[in-house]
Amino acid sequence: MTDTTKREIVCSGIRPTGNIHLGNYFGALRNFVRMQDEHDCFFFVADYHSLTTHPTPDDLYGNARQILIQYIACGLDPDKATIYLQSDLPETIELYLFLNMNAYLGELERVTSFKDKVRQNPNNVNAGLLTYPTLMAADILIHKATKVPVGKDQEQHLEMTRTFAQRFNNMYKHEVFPLPQAYNFGHDLIKIPGLDGSGKMGKSEGEGNAIFLNEDPKSIRKKIMRAKTDSGPTEMSQTKPVEIENLFTLMKVVSSPDTVEYFDDLYNRCQIRYGDMKKQLAEDMVNFCEPFRLKIEELSSNEDYLRRVMDQGKEKARESARKTIEEVRHVIGYRN
Ligand code: TRP
Repeated sequence: MTDTTKREIVCSGIRPTGNIHLGNYFGALRNFVRMQDEHDCFFFVADYHSLTTHPTPDDLYGNARQILIQYIACGLDPDKATIYLQSDLPETIELYLFLNMNAYLGELERVTSFKDKVRQNPNNVNAGLLTYPTLMAADILIHKATKVPVGKDQEQHLEMTRTFAQRFNNMYKHEVFPLPQAYNFGHDLIKIPGLDGSGKMGKSEGEGNAIFLNEDPKSIRKKIMRAKTDSGPTEMSQTKPVEIENLFTLMKVVSSPDTVEYFDDLYNRCQIRYGDMKKQLAEDMVNFCEPFRLKIEELSSNEDYLRRVMDQGKEKARESARKTIEEVRHVIGYRN
């Protein structure tokens, strides 16, 4: 048996902002799945954080549930990792309160994500938005996690988490919290390009740019056939322009190496027909996404199972959180 006492604690959350696309899968989820065997993992749906934008009650649960379904469809195993809804762990809020007492207005106002939100939404600059980093720190510190798999855009939040943790430890003269590090998978990270010929795949870049794991075959084919190309190579083995390189990158993740080589060779001999390449890519993409789509569909109609997963996750998460909160309350001076 493996020695579970020495396993590193991993924690990460996803905001429920819609369906998971290929970029999310290769950039985050696939790696979460790989981590669940060797670490003590806590993966949650950040449905407290989503209150900053004032969703309706139906949207709130529906969106959180949708992310949970997609987590499981991607291979996260509720018997290996602790998978839960943030709102099922109110201990997080108690820690958030304690951390807020030592989080200063100046440092919170300087956070890049806060400044962006203020610019985008000047009419909704609420205190929850300002204290987003303390809530995120509470998410992580409640489990004493040391490794936090997140994208580059979250590094400033992680730095603040370390600041708050260290400040708490100093203030109460106890090493309560370890200092967590962002973890970005290094070489295992594949950047998935979008279909519009520009940068990375994302939902904010427009409808046609991203392919979602639960997308139906017809829509996938349509998007791929519409992807941007150029008029074709004119010199043998010439460097590929970005939009063509992007198609090859997508092909590398969903097609067989033989297929990629076949079209690469045609390109280098100036004999490629992009229509043929796209048709092949579309078929391979459909085959790649289909098992996810079917699994998502199956899980969506299985409310009993989802409830069981949520309950199980809640129980495991609370066991871990309660230990931390008791210790925290004790060092602050409250009775338990
Ligand atoms: N801020 C993260 C994002 O926008 C989501 C998040 C909330 C998170 N709490 C977290 C990520 C704790 C890691 C750990 O993507």
